[in-house]
Amino acid sequence: MPANRTGLLIVFEGTDGTGKSTQLQLLAKALKEKGLPVVTTREPTEGEYGQKIRQLYAHRHTVSLEKELDLFLADRKEHVEQLLSPALESGKVILCDRYYLSTVAYQGAAGLDPQLILTRNDFAPEPDLALLFHAPIQTGVNRITQGRGEELNDFEKEDYLHQVASMFAQMKLPFIRRIDAARTIEAIHSDVLGLVQPLLEKLQ
Ligand code: TYD
Repeated sequence: MPANRTGLLIVFEGTDGTGKSTQLQLLAKALKEKGLPVVTTREPTEGEYGQKIRQLYAHRHTVSLEKELDLFLADRKEHVEQLLSPALESGKVILCDRYYLSTVAYQGAAGLDPQLILTRNDFAPEPDLALLFHAPIQTGVNRITQGRGEELNDFEKEDYLHQVASMFAQMKLPFIRRIDAARTIEAIHSDVLGLVQPLLEKLQ
């Protein structure tokens, strides 16, 4: 970890519909109540490249896999330069909804080499903690289609999500902690707090 990094980077990862965004908001609230300087953010971002990525949701196959990867990397570079690095240097606790493990899993499941994807993310600061939410794919898909009343976009097709889940399951990195997301919101939140607490002690 570089000497000028005084904040924390906690990322929320997993397949769609596992409730990670809900948990991110709950954690943000709990940490703010402790008086910590919390910054919440997400990828794809709202920036130029993030918007281009969102346009792809409905017709993913109009660009090559390489071009798609380039877009996610360009979006992340901008995010790192404009928000993540400055916030880490000024001691913020960053909660980020998706980060480079999503690229490894989603673009890896689409056919690119997961190791190569990881290497291409060398520029991105390593997370202090990656919470990897897992639940049966059917549970996630039901939450999206029935709970939110949305249709599945091109990144959320069921067969593909099974492959994405298998990519996440194979990852072995020291900062990953796995969370069974097929439980109540309160039980999951309590696990999240338990995993984050030791990091806060180092921060203070
Ligand atoms: P999602 O978290 O669902 O964002 P939104 O609420 O804007 O829809 O992420 C969008 C999709 O992008 C999701 O299905 C996963 C995919 N994705 C990748 O394929 N690669 C990446 O690097 C990232 C960050 C996301």
